[in-house]
Amino acid sequence: MTRRAAALGLTAAGLAACSGDGAVEMPALASRQFPADFVWGAASAAFQTEGSLDADGRGPSVWDVFPRAKIHDGSDASVATDSYRRFSEDVALLADAGLNAYRFSISWSRIVPDGVSAMPLIPAGWDGVNRAGIDYYSRFIDALLERGVTPYATLFHWDLPQALQERGGWYARDTAERFRDYAGVVSSFLGDRLKHFITLNEAAVHAVLGHVLGVHAPGLTDASKIGAVIHHQNLAQGWAIQELRAQRSDLTIGATMALMPSRAARGVTPLNAVAAGGFDELWNGAFLDPLLKGSYPKTARDMMTDVLREGDLAITRQPVDFLGVNYYAPAYMRFDANSPSYVSPANPPEDVELDAFGRHVDPSGLFEMLERVRTQYGNPRVLITENGCSDPFSDGPATLEDEFRIAYVRRHLEAVKAAMEAGANVGGYFHWTLIDNWEWAEGYRSKFGLVVQDRASGVRTPKASYAWFSALARSGALDAG
Ligand code: GCO
Repeated sequence: MTRRAAALGLTAAGLAACSGDGAVEMPALASRQFPADFVWGAASAAFQTEGSLDADGRGPSVWDVFPRAKIHDGSDASVATDSYRRFSEDVALLADAGLNAYRFSISWSRIVPDGVSAMPLIPAGWDGVNRAGIDYYSRFIDALLERGVTPYATLFHWDLPQALQERGGWYARDTAERFRDYAGVVSSFLGDRLKHFITLNEAAVHAVLGHVLGVHAPGLTDASKIGAVIHHQNLAQGWAIQELRAQRSDLTIGATMALMPSRAARGVTPLNAVAAGGFDELWNGAFLDPLLKGSYPKTARDMMTDVLREGDLAITRQPVDFLGVNYYAPAYMRFDANSPSYVSPANPPEDVELDAFGRHVDPSGLFEMLERVRTQYGNPRVLITENGCSDPFSDGPATLEDEFRIAYVRRHLEAVKAAMEAGANVGGYFHWTLIDNWEWAEGYRSKFGLVVQDRASGVRTPKASYAWFSALARSGALDAG
């Protein structure tokens, strides 16, 4: 290993974990029929859908103050899919499609506007909890349950209360404790009916895009602090799971991760493989390992020497009822002498099919990650908590005859089924997303929905994929296309 590779702190294990630079071979399917108890759902996130950002005492989140100049179409999420006001229409769309689950996220700053709540709750007087925010989610959960749609609530989908950001955000260990308290508040007020919890959504994306690349809120770019951001999120998750379990014994709790195979960019230098291995340890291992094994891969551990305390890994390691896997594409990485970490993202191989973001459309990457979870992490129950594709970016209307989306989902479900036939314990699939929404830095120009919303009139129109996904959810039979 060269001096520079050694400087990356990379290990043989990291190298072994890194894949080649192309798709993996998947076995042919024995059957296209999914089990009768398979969960079919759609997924969304509060900030991308709710709108009504000032309603009913909600506090600002880091995304409220993120500069509009950094959003491709200069838009904001003040309306989004207007779901705060129109959630009963969302519920009808889900139920009418025969979907039996909805994954949404709870806006932390609607529940705890300043980020700080008393825990256990003070019986009378100020406890930092916004009852109007609780009431909103209570009504929403009731509406889902009335139509036979099981609510799966993500507690954190990147919208940290701005008040906590001002106290250090994820650089601060205190934020992890505040997350534990917030989780306790949600379960104590809503846990009588809300039984399925997802702790964090894609902590890796939040760490890298929000705290290293600065393209997501809170827009920070200090790579040297990524260890704190990773570890404090893992710690927050561990404490939250402990709190939820202490409060109620009948909850189903999972954590959602953005798993991506990390592949070396094609090229002569073997250092690309080293770069891909290091990235894998940070992107996948730094979240899977502390939760499921109570350890950190070396690359991650080396970045958190000043924040990792004795006993922490016993907190991050918690039993979960499922692992949520979000999958869109593999990553390609290259060695980059000009980058402080020596690692930079690379283009996918030439001639491969690309999605709207320029990523490789490769269902086998999902099979590969499911195989890895099965063989290296004790085969936990898995729910695919996100998968889907955007229309080509455009400020114009969405594509209603979205055959490309049907083909994309079909191929990814073939990969899921292949992994299940190989032994993976996959119990459900949530399509990202129900209605075209506000796609973070892309604004409204990226559209992932089964349903389009006319933003001027608010009218919602199902796309071809809605009917197709509905037929699949009702029968469990994946057509051959
Ligand atoms: C993510 C987020 C979603 C995105 C979706 C489409 O995976 O990045 O969970 O909020 O909108 O993935 O890019």
